[in-house]
Amino acid sequence: MPIIEALCAHVERNATSWHVPGHKNGTLFEGLPSFFEWDKTELRGLDDFHYPEEAIYEAKLLLRQVYEARDSHFLINGSTVGNWAMLAAVSQRGDRIYVQRNSHKSVFNALEWLGLSPILLGPEIDPSTGISGNVSRETLEEALTTFPGGVAVFLTSPTYYGETARIEELLPFTTASGIPLLIDEAHGAHFGEAFGVRSAFELGATAVVQSAHKTLPALTMGAWIHERFTDDERRRLTRALQAFQTSSPSYLLMASLDFAREYREKWTVSNMKSVRTSHEHLHQQINQLTDITAFTFDDWSRMILSCEEYSGSQLIEALADQGLDAEFALGPHVVCILPLRSIEPFEQDTWINQIQLAIETLKAEGIPDKRYMEQPFMGKIKVSSLACPLDQLEDAEAVEQTFEQSVGLVSLETIIPYPPGIPLILRGERITAEHITMIEHYINTSIHLQGGEFLHQGKLRVIQEGIRE
Ligand SMILES: Cc1ncc(COP(=O)(O)O)c(C=O)c1O
Repeated sequence: MPIIEALCAHVERNATSWHVPGHKNGTLFEGLPSFFEWDKTELRGLDDFHYPEEAIYEAKLLLRQVYEARDSHFLINGSTVGNWAMLAAVSQRGDRIYVQRNSHKSVFNALEWLGLSPILLGPEIDPSTGISGNVSRETLEEALTTFPGGVAVFLTSPTYYGETARIEELLPFTTASGIPLLIDEAHGAHFGEAFGVRSAFELGATAVVQSAHKTLPALTMGAWIHERFTDDERRRLTRALQAFQTSSPSYLLMASLDFAREYREKWTVSNMKSVRTSHEHLHQQINQLTDITAFTFDDWSRMILSCEEYSGSQLIEALADQGLDAEFALGPHVVCILPLRSIEPFEQDTWINQIQLAIETLKAEGIPDKRYMEQPFMGKIKVSSLACPLDQLEDAEAVEQTFEQSVGLVSLETIIPYPPGIPLILRGERITAEHITMIEHYINTSIHLQGGEFLHQGKLRVIQEGIRE
């Protein structure tokens, strides 16, 4: 682990700090936690994050070997910066990008600030669960035909629920159009032969970003990009990463990325098989309980729970009361990200006990809440563009309108249920009655909404009358 070795060597020197950071290797005053000692800056022997030639470069070579990339890049601002940089690598201001509608907010932020023009690709909805999934081949084909001339396709795989895109079906279309296929694989750093689910990169995507911190043992914000860009695209990517990321990279974070790479590299098909078996056993045990169901999509380490009578928000609270903190709740579901190791029998028994107690408490004290069932599912329109181009929004005259009056008008706000951080309404999008029902539903079911300045007054900021449909 080259970064970790360089860092250890530096710590062992026990040199006096006459440099940033201000905690002076954790010695500024008595009692600073020991990890401060490891929080270094780009000193002799520790390489240069943006122009790596030594330890960081060696770690990068190892990373790209593991993922069989033409090149890989460490990120210290999460997949958020990776999404920005991948888009910047392949586009110029004004370019058209085909983008999955249920993408993370970082993608839409990047599109707006990079001056790009999105063509929105609505996902398929799983009929049995109502969960938004992936973009179908038909949708991509329709978008490429109806709105030609785009410079890249940008998809999210896996979804927050663990469903992966059918890359083999989609790739022929991007290849035929001669444009790159970029994938936000933030939740798939653990994918690969050993895990048994192939990464979009292995399947031929041009570039993927993965949040190592989400599923591998890396510190929060640690991520990486793997790519097979052209030389020109790679130059732009490098420039973008230098511009968008801090000039004071955290060595704790970089060391954790080095560690996560090694951890992932050591997996074998057979040890992951036994991990999988232990996960499946847990699912079976849960499914033997009454009133609760556990299921997975493609990523078997992501377990989705639902509890007949109760909403996901109620279930996640009840689980937290028993000491089980799940990732997020939406509609009837709770998404749980399980540890990527074997679940020991004693642990499993404890968890089953906690789940059982959570359900019993819910049934004894909770009022069944089925309002989530009234939730309309978005995604009927498969291919659309924004009603107002993003670059014209700044000049538009803004007005606050009640939810009801906003229907048919163009939104100046991006409204985001958080988590999962997938926008419900986009800036520049025309507001529909479905959007309003969803917003009201989220407010009624206490789902945290980001982005609406006047939501608490039951209003949205929209473009003044005149662009009403
Ligand atoms: C699909 C997806 N993409 C990107 C991101 C941003 O990743 P990060 O937190 O590593 O910046 C998230 C975060 O939740 C996400 O869910």
